[in-house]
Amino acid sequence: MERSQLIKGLEQILEPGRIISDPVDLMYYSFDSSFLARLNKFMPDVVVTPRSTEEVSAVMRFAYENSIPVTPRGAGTGETCGSVPVQGGIVMDLSTWDTIEEIDAANMQVIVRPGVIHGRLNEKLAAMGMFFPPDPGSTRMCTIGGMVANNASGLRAVKYGCTEQYVLGLEVVLPNGEVIVTGGLHSRAVKSVSGMNITKLFVGSEGILGVITRVRLRIWPKPKGRGIVMAVYKSLDDAPASVLEVYQSGILPSGIEVLDQSAIKAVNLYKPEINLPDAEAILLFEVDGNPDSVEWEGNKICEVARQRAISVEWATDAKRMASLWEGRSVVATAAARVRPDGTRVFAGEDISVPLSKVAEVLRAIRALGDKHGVRVVNYGHIGDGNVHTAPVIDPDIPQEVEMANALVDDIHRYAVTVGGTTTGEHGVGAVRAKYAELEHGAAVGVMRMIKQAFDPKGIMNPGKLVPKEEA
Ligand code: LAC
Ligand code: ZN
Repeated sequence: MERSQLIKGLEQILEPGRIISDPVDLMYYSFDSSFLARLNKFMPDVVVTPRSTEEVSAVMRFAYENSIPVTPRGAGTGETCGSVPVQGGIVMDLSTWDTIEEIDAANMQVIVRPGVIHGRLNEKLAAMGMFFPPDPGSTRMCTIGGMVANNASGLRAVKYGCTEQYVLGLEVVLPNGEVIVTGGLHSRAVKSVSGMNITKLFVGSEGILGVITRVRLRIWPKPKGRGIVMAVYKSLDDAPASVLEVYQSGILPSGIEVLDQSAIKAVNLYKPEINLPDAEAILLFEVDGNPDSVEWEGNKICEVARQRAISVEWATDAKRMASLWEGRSVVATAAARVRPDGTRVFAGEDISVPLSKVAEVLRAIRALGDKHGVRVVNYGHIGDGNVHTAPVIDPDIPQEVEMANALVDDIHRYAVTVGGTTTGEHGVGAVRAKYAELEHGAAVGVMRMIKQAFDPKGIMNPGKLVPKEEA
């Protein structure tokens, strides 16, 4: 279909002001934070910003009838091109549809539209003593719809799990425009084993099965106390060993982060005043709960960590906690500083591996970096083996781009062979679909059947998650 016809068709079914077609504005929708998007220009033909289920449904019906690709998008904070229109067509920007429809505190749940920002929801909930626990680092930007589509997790996953554990039900517009509700049409139950679990099928399906238009989320009581332990290790192997010993002491921290030597160096170059100690690894344990148990757990972690660490500090004072955490907060930006002309690229950046192999993996990644001649900075959510690897290159030099791509391919394959996964939290998108067979074997065939059943025309976020069968 001609672009002008496409826009005309959409104008007939949407409220005025819901269509973006200026090429300069469209540019904004051609990328996310991924390296792949940086290397390419995936322009949409048009962007729509629907704000009702009816509008989403009308756009899908129109797209379905005319076989036009549709890519749903939240805030675009992704790192795998998940919300980038790799095959053009329509981008459906749901970020402006940000209504918190109901905080049903009596039933420990909220009903929101997809564009609600994570941080805004949690601010509202905090006033009522509640919270929605998963916390991707991008709380001030990312949308609940995007979190659900991506099954986002992040810093607190070690204790609170991923978004999927909190999704009680969804309203979804299917590729043909039909609207369904999962988790019970009128349900406000917080527990149900009725019917096939279609809700879970949509969570993490990265927009390839339909458009999420409403989310019913479980909320939890917000803990009143919080504390941070920083432990510094001379030897890398001592860091995961300490994590295991903390678990074995009966404590499940709400976060356990690692910075290895490369990350420590990057942070100190970026902000010398942070002045992290020169060591092979730093662990940050966050504990939360009621203040008395937080105090007990913090002291216990110190006692356990001291058996291996060269220094240990415990803080519950807000200012000191922020200062202990600062290295972790800035590391993603700091990574680039390991070389003067460097840029940190988001590629191969979130493998997850067995905890028992974290030290081995960090060393192997360093060796792979050396093999390909690429500097790599490592940090991550060690509590669940989720390693963030940050290649630092000059992306304007084609040879360096090639080296980085080769390194990242090795990292993905290595993660699978070592018993891990290519992605612990950022998803598959257009970047990791090629590893689906390696990682999932015959199960990919079932994924294709599911995709085909929901989206026989293949218009829903094409080119993502499930690779096409090789001819
Ligand atoms: C982090 C995000 C990028 O942990 O996953 O920093
Ligand atoms: Zn992360």
